[in-house]
Amino acid sequence: NKAEPLKVMISGAPASGKGTQCELIRRKYDFVHIAAGDLLRAEVAAGTENGRRAKECMEKGQLVPDEIVVMMVKERLLLPDSQEKGWLLDGYPRSSSQANALKEFGFQPDLFILLEVPEEILVDRVVGRRLDPVTGKIYHLKYSPPETQQIAARLTQRFDDTEEKVKLRLLTHNKNVEAVLSMYEDITVKVDGSLSKEDVFAQIDSALRALRKQGQTPLGSL
Ligand code: AP5
Repeated sequence: NKAEPLKVMISGAPASGKGTQCELIRRKYDFVHIAAGDLLRAEVAAGTENGRRAKECMEKGQLVPDEIVVMMVKERLLLPDSQEKGWLLDGYPRSSSQANALKEFGFQPDLFILLEVPEEILVDRVVGRRLDPVTGKIYHLKYSPPETQQIAARLTQRFDDTEEKVKLRLLTHNKNVEAVLSMYEDITVKVDGSLSKEDVFAQIDSALRALRKQGQTPLGSL
């Protein structure tokens, strides 16, 4: 009998490597990657009223109001691919009210990954980050440089990727992280996110493999 698809959350300070790890996890496990920040940036790009309101908050490094974020994430989680393949929720929940909303809708994660990275590393990661608008891939000028000149020439930067803005995002993160963590204590795995991206992934991979094995073990033999 087929194991239930896994449901995973990944959290961590700005630029702790959530998006980078999600790409590696998705490649191996084929979960549907749902990033709250990406959903919001798509809304900003579409020029909707919600997008305009979201951008105001994002520029100040503050949380976008629940009435915008919660429904956006819920709708994405309910799409058939998320239900079939399992999901990897990135950057949500960021407050206890967001966690409670998810619970009320019946979404129960199997694993909560927290990436731990010292603050002094985060600024360096943010200011060097670049994005490929064609493939969506995340680069870093120093730690993960583009493979070709052609890619290098088309890289873009996020509007909130300045030293000043990341410090604001960090304040918001530090204010909220404990409340969220306390709701998932029994399923949390803390990962050292300061290592190379391959070594960070190795820690996550081992937690996911253990979980998968557990799910496939017939109940009687536990
Ligand atoms: P969001 O887009 O989620 O931004 P964030 O939390 O600040 O996180 P980042 O995307 O900046 O970083 P990341 O952890 O994904 O790191 P990455 O892998 O890119 O949110 C943006 C805004 O949207 C928020 O401020 C808020 O306003 C709003 N928002 C989002 N979710 C919300 C919610 N639930 N509720 C309300 N509002 C919400 O890596 C960073 C860089 O480091 C890259 O250049 C990468 O190449 C490099 N790197 C990664 N790993 C390593 C490594 N191991 N070693 C060396 N370099 C590395």
